[in-house]
Amino acid sequence: MIKKIIMIIIIIIVCFLYKIKNTLTSYLSFYFNKYLLKDKLKYPKHVAFIMDGNGRWATEKNMNRTHGHLMGSVNLLSIIYCCFLNGSDYLTFYAFSEENWKRPKKETDYIFEIIYKKLKFMSKLKEDMSFKIMIQGRRDRIPNKLLKLINLIEKNTQPNNKTIIIALDYSGRSEILHACKQLLKNNLEPTINNFTNYLYVANVPDPDLIIRTSGEKRMSDFLTWQHSYSELYFTDVKWPDFTVQELEKAIINYNTRQRRYGDIK
Ligand code: IPE
Ligand code: IPE
Ligand code: MG
Repeated sequence: MIKKIIMIIIIIIVCFLYKIKNTLTSYLSFYFNKYLLKDKLKYPKHVAFIMDGNGRWATEKNMNRTHGHLMGSVNLLSIIYCCFLNGSDYLTFYAFSEENWKRPKKETDYIFEIIYKKLKFMSKLKEDMSFKIMIQGRRDRIPNKLLKLINLIEKNTQPNNKTIIIALDYSGRSEILHACKQLLKNNLEPTINNFTNYLYVANVPDPDLIIRTSGEKRMSDFLTWQHSYSELYFTDVKWPDFTVQELEKAIINYNTRQRRYGDIK
């Protein structure tokens, strides 16, 4: 009996130490990289986010999934300003996919309501804190009230330099088909240049870094054409817990990548 108890205690201590060891190593490597890259830390020109895990975040806390979507909208502005102040010029946020229509109406209505409120708030930002806002996706199924606001915001924020793109009712495959149809309609050669001119948003450089939260390691039809040379970063942290500190970890990790584009250097 005593032997068994001692064994159990040893197992608990080993588990405890192992967890601490993991945490310690991850912290040490984070600060080590941060120190090494201190003056050279470069924010990518275009960062795209697959904001995943809102539902699970809420369910884990015995809350309704909709609460996860609400909490997922809280850190948005701090992430936006952190990227823009550090040199990024374009940010894309995957807010709603074409496949997300499969969800209960109550949830989709709630998501569009949050997007409406967030955009309304952003439309009131002072000029020097404002940015250009664009929508990437189908427009024919967006609730009328939201669509009106989007049209107004896209027009009013046009002169700003830093750009926010919201992928809404978006599917990468549909975007590719849309561009193909436009090429056929206009009788144009299917070249890369002609093709990219007919994506939902034109004249935006491909994303350098795509961050997906919540532990899933897939693209879920996001920027299917544009992500061919993007660096991918996956984190287990769910979107409502994705703070500026978590963003910094992703940027540090991005700075350790070597982008070769097929070359050998
Ligand atoms: C992402 O969070 C937000 C949207 C897809 C609109 P989810 O709602 O997919 O959260 P999980 O993946 O179910 O936890
Ligand atoms: C991708 O998340 C879409 C958004 C983040 C808006 P999903 O939760 O819909 O993706 P899957 O279903 O896990 O692939
Ligand atoms: Mg999800």
